[in-house]
Amino acid sequence: MMSQELQFPLSPIRLGVLLSGRGSTLENLLARIRAGQLDAQVVHVHSSRPDARGLQIAAQAGVPTSVCLRREFASVEQFSQQVFSLVEQHQPHLIVMAGYVKLLRIPPRWENRVMNIHPSLIPAFCGKGYYGHRVHEAVLRYGCKLTGCTVHFVDNQYDHGPIVLQRAVPVLEGDTVETLAARVQAAERELYPLAIALFAAGALEVQGRWVHIRQDRAPWVAQLLDSV
Ligand code: GAR
Repeated sequence: MMSQELQFPLSPIRLGVLLSGRGSTLENLLARIRAGQLDAQVVHVHSSRPDARGLQIAAQAGVPTSVCLRREFASVEQFSQQVFSLVEQHQPHLIVMAGYVKLLRIPPRWENRVMNIHPSLIPAFCGKGYYGHRVHEAVLRYGCKLTGCTVHFVDNQYDHGPIVLQRAVPVLEGDTVETLAARVQAAERELYPLAIALFAAGALEVQGRWVHIRQDRAPWVAQLLDSV
């Protein structure tokens, strides 16, 4: 399915989810959908690990799953081809990474149609090796007073593609990795569904590194953007 074939607004938007771990991001998306706060359907969950808890969450929600191990492929190209061919079978409109840690080569037909959420204000504390708690450890070690989360489109480098939305989160005196992660993840739970809803509305226009938000296509967003 090529991007020009997408007919906006997508209602419900069909989501393919890529994950490697706990699956709390997936859990949040499923909860928002169930609560009627996100007009979406998770059509497939793909994991880079067979033991990811996220796979159990998908199975409990009746979502079909697949697994693909990086070590079974000689190159990132071959691995990526297999991942996209497994996910494409379920015809998602958008692929969302939800704690997925493997590097992928994005096929041209998926350019600006794969999103990721990263637990820092990119370009700080991102790139290879920065994921999950390691990010918060690095933020605390550096002595930052401010961190946050970033939703971005995925390109062929770690945490690098055009930025869709960011939300700042304070680092507080006495924070531990756990308390800081919890505060950032609370922000992630608001920001990711918002980015997905903007995509579904056809309100994200990418020009180079800039993602313009077309408020004419999503008039409801003005008030929400004030709070992010
Ligand atoms: C989330 O905090 C997400 O931002 C982060 O991993 C966590 C996934 O949690 N992603 C990255 O660090 C990507 N570089 P989950 O497995 O419970 O959904």
